[in-house]
Amino acid sequence: MQNNKPSKTDRTLIIIKPDGVQRSLIGEITKRYERAGLKLVAIKMLVPTPEMVEKHYTLDPEWRRITGEKTIKGYLDKGLIPPLTDPFEITARILERLKKYMTSGPVIAMVWQGAHAVPIVRKITGGTEPLQSDVGTIRGDFVLDSYQLSDEGERSVRNLVHASGSPDEAEKEIKHWFSDSEILNYRLIQEQIIYDVNIDGIFE
Ligand code: TYD
Repeated sequence: MQNNKPSKTDRTLIIIKPDGVQRSLIGEITKRYERAGLKLVAIKMLVPTPEMVEKHYTLDPEWRRITGEKTIKGYLDKGLIPPLTDPFEITARILERLKKYMTSGPVIAMVWQGAHAVPIVRKITGGTEPLQSDVGTIRGDFVLDSYQLSDEGERSVRNLVHASGSPDEAEKEIKHWFSDSEILNYRLIQEQIIYDVNIDGIFE
């Protein structure tokens, strides 16, 4: 459990989804987190199982309700009629599509560390629906998908990346995807210039 004070040991989970791998964007995506000053402390390539995907999305016991209600509100806000009225039924459908999407090929799972890791990564990644993501973000720059288009295709929205939504969520997700021994503790020389109070020792 983390407190609210920013720390250089804050961590977040990122998954480059199958479309990110298939579109040869692994380097482009990791570059953006890396150049922000974050430190990569774990990385692996794997093909997730449907069970791993379901567990990942339901680590928060409230996720099914929240996602269903949010989706219904999204339809109503756009003046559209939701295809189902029960939030749990809507989520069940979203989850089935997510399982199909996330197991369709290899993904890259990573843990990135640094002050404000969770919100910084969310900012660099951009909003969940690519149509709405800001220009300059990963999703805004590389994806043209929308909920409307993905719903028509009866599939998940292809948004390249998963990034944890909060520090608590991040801790649970990191435990779900990585064992302790897969996460490395090491010093990155640049941390001195990013975090240290005194910048000295530059001149010889
Ligand atoms: P969500 O938890 O709302 O987003 P985030 O992970 O950014 O906090 O949704 C989980 C994933 O499901 C996200 O990648 C978007 C996708 N999704 C769809 O494909 N269709 C939908 O109708 C919804 C609500 C989500």
